[in-house]
Amino acid sequence: MKRGHQRKAVRKPVDLSARVGGLALPNPVMTASGTAGHGAELGDYFDLSSLGAVVVKSLSAGPWEGNPPPRLLPAAAGMLNSVGLQNPGVDAWATEHLPALAKAGARVVVSVWARSPDGYEEVGRRAVAAVGATPAGRCIVAVEANVSCPNVEDRERMFAHSPEAAGGAIAALVRGLEGSGLPLWAKLSPNVSDLAGIAGAVLAAGATGLTLVNTLLGMAVDPLTGKPRLGGGGGGLSGPALHPVAVRAVYECRRAFPSVPIVGVGGVTTGYDAAELLAAGADAVQVGTATFADPQAPRRVLGELEQWCAVHGVDRVGDLGRRGVER
Ligand SMILES: Cc1cc2nc3c(=O)[nH]c(=O)nc-3n(C[C@H](O)[C@H](O)[C@H](O)COP(=O)(O)O)c2cc1C
Repeated sequence: MKRGHQRKAVRKPVDLSARVGGLALPNPVMTASGTAGHGAELGDYFDLSSLGAVVVKSLSAGPWEGNPPPRLLPAAAGMLNSVGLQNPGVDAWATEHLPALAKAGARVVVSVWARSPDGYEEVGRRAVAAVGATPAGRCIVAVEANVSCPNVEDRERMFAHSPEAAGGAIAALVRGLEGSGLPLWAKLSPNVSDLAGIAGAVLAAGATGLTLVNTLLGMAVDPLTGKPRLGGGGGGLSGPALHPVAVRAVYECRRAFPSVPIVGVGGVTTGYDAAELLAAGADAVQVGTATFADPQAPRRVLGELEQWCAVHGVDRVGDLGRRGVER
């Protein structure tokens, strides 16, 4: 063939479509709860409808003030936060923030939390009523239960640190969400020795999927005063330092539960990180801390994931997770 007439190899576009259980998404990249605001804030940086889904900051039944400042500190390979779940409450969120998300064409995952099992039932009931009251509610595709919060009925121990408490919270939330038909993902804590045991308890209680993982418990202390540097005392470690922990959590739970929907989260900063979590067994991934340095991070990670798949001959992103485990 003469020079100048060489045909360029036409690469098939990568099929980015994803399934999280029964939920079909255009791609597997989402925001992570608490790192993308309550509503359409990131819409100033990219088209929110271009992501698989937007996961909103965890909502409680009523407004919650959160922890005193300072709330964020850089750590060696990530960040410590002690935001303390500040939020306007699910009713105010549905009127003040949800319409902008719906207008942006986002698929929305509602994250909820509570301080008691009854609180989970209440926030579930309120969420269903509030989103049912507005046409914007149609953009809700799933509920994520943040169970990494203190249980006032168990000496403020985190629900997610005990199979009984985590299962109790999920069972209560299932009652609250009755009739909504929404998938319910239990978001678990990595600060446990038997993650698969806790995952089994929340699945038995009615969760239809798992989000793995929330932050690792951490702390920063001022050596001059010996006092914690975060206003809330301890905090949660997120970012690249957490990534291998998330990969292992996803890998182990995928082996324990071959067909359960799993969403992986922890230190996803590049498309490679996302591919790694998907190959470990996640059906979708969330991008959190990376968004603080680069507000376009979730969209960028999606682009890099697509490119990574193209370069490595992966035609369908959904095939990545089918490599390690027979499903
Ligand atoms: C500032 C900040 C606030 C967060 N708030 C929430 C929250 O409201 N609900 C929740 O389930 N997780 C929350 N998380 C945890 C993240 O959703 C995510 O699980 C964790 O940060 C690990 O992902 P990353 O390393 O990509 O940030 C928060 C994390 C950060 C850094």
